[in-house]
Amino acid sequence: MTTPNVEVLQNGSSVNNGDLINNGHELDEYDFSRFEDRPRVLNLERQRSCDERSLNDLPVGFSPHPSLRADNYCRAFDNPDSLYSPGRRSGCNTPLSHFGYGMMTSDPHPMIAEAWDDLRRALVYFRGQPVGTIAALDSSDEKLNYDQVFVRDFVPSALAFLMNGEPEVVKNFLLKTLRLQGWEKKIDRFQLGEGVMPASFKVLHDPIRNTETLMADFGESAIGRVAPVDSGFWWIILLRAYTKSTGDTSLADKPECQKGIRLILSLCLSEGFDTFPTLLCADGCSMIDRRMGVYGYPIEIQALFFMALRCAMLLLKHDGPGKELIERIVKRLHALSYHMRNYFWLDLKQLNDIYRYKTEEYSHTAVNKFNVMPDSLPDWVMDFMPLHGGYFIGNIGPSHMDFRWFCLGNCIAILSSLATQEQSSAIMDLIESRWEELVGDMPLKVCYPAIENHEWRIVTGCDPKNTRWSYHNGGSWPVLLWLLTAACIKTGRPQIARRAIELAETRLSKDGWPEYYDGKLGRYIGKQARKHQTWSVAGYLVAKMLLEDPSHLGMIAIEEDKHLKPVLRRSSSWTA
Ligand code: GLC
Repeated sequence: MTTPNVEVLQNGSSVNNGDLINNGHELDEYDFSRFEDRPRVLNLERQRSCDERSLNDLPVGFSPHPSLRADNYCRAFDNPDSLYSPGRRSGCNTPLSHFGYGMMTSDPHPMIAEAWDDLRRALVYFRGQPVGTIAALDSSDEKLNYDQVFVRDFVPSALAFLMNGEPEVVKNFLLKTLRLQGWEKKIDRFQLGEGVMPASFKVLHDPIRNTETLMADFGESAIGRVAPVDSGFWWIILLRAYTKSTGDTSLADKPECQKGIRLILSLCLSEGFDTFPTLLCADGCSMIDRRMGVYGYPIEIQALFFMALRCAMLLLKHDGPGKELIERIVKRLHALSYHMRNYFWLDLKQLNDIYRYKTEEYSHTAVNKFNVMPDSLPDWVMDFMPLHGGYFIGNIGPSHMDFRWFCLGNCIAILSSLATQEQSSAIMDLIESRWEELVGDMPLKVCYPAIENHEWRIVTGCDPKNTRWSYHNGGSWPVLLWLLTAACIKTGRPQIARRAIELAETRLSKDGWPEYYDGKLGRYIGKQARKHQTWSVAGYLVAKMLLEDPSHLGMIAIEEDKHLKPVLRRSSSWTA
């Protein structure tokens, strides 16, 4: 056991809780012409305010982003504040919506009020201020580390609060975790990189000394002792969501925030032995935080890396150290998008090419660059691949392709525009065609398919928690609803999200908001699932609010950067 990192803050002066200044500036006011994301928001606002109707009524092909005609330009858009509508309530949990969007849907679902109650009960306070949400409110079970505020788990909570016009807790969380980043982090005698963000933290109360203490885990207490690579990326993504949603650039502009971003990114942009622009990781360093054969170059991390780089471009100041970093980011974004769009992308055409690959090729002309053996193609993938559709596979390395579908990575690829528009639509086509496999009775499979028998023994190390179709091994996680919904809206396919949400509404509340479901169809409450899992609750709320007011999408989606040219290598006839 190592001694946990402990920070005692007794006098309370450590965190700057300065006023939220809505100074009317938006990130985009910097000269980020190459990474401009204003048009997305404008278009979303126009679409929403013009239609004044539910997304449910929109045609199948509805897409919020194509240029709108002049006659679609109307009322709410006249008010420049509506460009980012700081602090607006969605009307989702209130009978009276500020903007009247409440009229767009029928009566709010009774689960919404219940979910807000749960979410507020999950708030964790430090010195009287809310700083995050606890992972689960389940009192019936052994707590393990579910009594902590996890960085990744807090993201949907934060989005729910931002969408509801309550940014304070998000700001507190961002500042508090930033201070934790500053701690010296050691596992045994080995010191972790300065930029590493914690996986989680908790507040310890000492009633005798009347103090509150923070305890953070950077991987030194985690099962498997793996540092969370995703935490830093989520932190940057959340900082951009906060800034976008509130219009308050003063937080991101603080020297300590700028430094925090630089520290996170210098961990990933440092030079080394890499021959690929993707990020090399240990198993279990993200949402799937146990051994599951996701070491190497897992899609979840690569997509979050790309998204964080793009958000950092919007947040970093173009001065001294920021400027130098921006140049490195631009180079990396180019290489990363090329690599991902080329080598991680799988559709019927590409699958057929792999099936016919020659091996042992040498030199620059090699087609089968990673020397993947066609015999390693699993049977399931041949049946799984629809005529129309495709996805980013789980992992690629030397003679290794992990063909499994991972939900989070593919959704983030859509939201960050790592996926081209064509690829994004193809991912949605795949979800529609493989509905039973990926959604089944309860959205949404964290990965597909499960690994079983001998493969399970080898890949998971006989993990009894990750048996086939359970937990990380093909389990269904309600939290993923928000990511699916956001991806659906970005691709103009809200009806897919509606279907998934309706399914979740038949059971989630009755089952007590479980962490995950088991079984091929996700029909059973997970073997060891916590109840009242906060991100299941928050994921549902965010999904509902996004559907009701798609302009919220702006805080978690980024438009395609035309400079990152799509690769038009494959025949378009294979993808719709
Ligand atoms: C589990 C999940 C992880 C999550 C944590 C807290 O360990 O695998 O992704 O952050 O629980 O909910």
